[in-house]
Amino acid sequence: MADAALINELLQARPANEMERPTFKPLNGQSISRNDASVLMQAVGHDVRVALKKPLEQRIDLSGKWPLTGHNYLRDLVFGVDPYRLKLLVDRTLELTPKLTWTVIAAGAALPGWLRPTDPASAVAELTGTQQSYQARRHAMGLYRRVAAPVCFTVAALVTGALWLGSPFDTHTSNKHILLETLRLLPPSWNILRRSSPEFPEIDGRISGADDVLLLPILSHRDPRLWEAPDEFQPDRWHDLDPDTHPGYLPFGHANERCWGRHMVMPLAERLLDLLRRDGYAVSSEQTRATVPLAGLLEVVDVRVGRHV
Ligand code: HEM
Repeated sequence: MADAALINELLQARPANEMERPTFKPLNGQSISRNDASVLMQAVGHDVRVALKKPLEQRIDLSGKWPLTGHNYLRDLVFGVDPYRLKLLVDRTLELTPKLTWTVIAAGAALPGWLRPTDPASAVAELTGTQQSYQARRHAMGLYRRVAAPVCFTVAALVTGALWLGSPFDTHTSNKHILLETLRLLPPSWNILRRSSPEFPEIDGRISGADDVLLLPILSHRDPRLWEAPDEFQPDRWHDLDPDTHPGYLPFGHANERCWGRHMVMPLAERLLDLLRRDGYAVSSEQTRATVPLAGLLEVVDVRVGRHV
């Protein structure tokens, strides 16, 4: 589904069920309660706030392949104090291989030398430290990965998209507008899935009671009925548009249940843009093409970034 009004109706027909929730879907068949989810989000929110209070690095090398470079910067900024066995869970090499992830988790949970209360650690890591049994530690490590990994994956994807679309940026354009426009053209959450539901056929006769529906913000974000010059990167359009109410614009989901992480994502991405813009980074002028694999998370890959000035 790509029509903005239809997407809106379908998403407000019912709340997402647990199988549809991207972050807190069941872990190894075990449901994650609302309470556990909110404790985890508070912990990671705390870690991000602590990270954002650190002064901007005076000297930092952000050249190299993106999103990898941005990902590693974010991992070290937010979870840098954590023990290696946990930090490893945010590694990009575990991205597409759930089996490898579970092997790393199983090994990490079994190894001696588990986190002690006096060890330096992020607030999310501390939640894993209180677990006594092997099974409980495995579960806690799985939860760590669920909330720590998206901070690095999604923010690095967003900033790489911004670099690709707009760098070197005009000095007068705000980071916020750059990010809103990047979320429009390269939305990391490019689709939203809803499993079949009795409410859906009542909304649109083309949907049967057995049909799952895939809602496609990536298309509504470029609908020529809703956007002027829809395919052009024009961050300044956001001077006159409201991202919370603009029809068809839902990079963080529907107004009824928007992404719980969005308040961390935007300031982290702005911090990275501050550094990149301060030090004159841009996509290498020799790179004119890039790949956007059709995967769960939409991102431009293997973007070569270097000092522009
Ligand atoms: C660029 C970054 C991100 C984008 C574009 C994004 C997008 C979205 C979207 C579209 C939804 C709604 C999904 C639906 O209705 O089915 C959502 C929900 C959610 N997001 Fe995000 N997200 C981002 C980053 C994060 C991060 C970093 C976290 C956590 C650390 C997070 C946690 C959540 C949670 C908890 C929900 C509610 C659904 C659930 O329980 O899983 N998001 N996000």
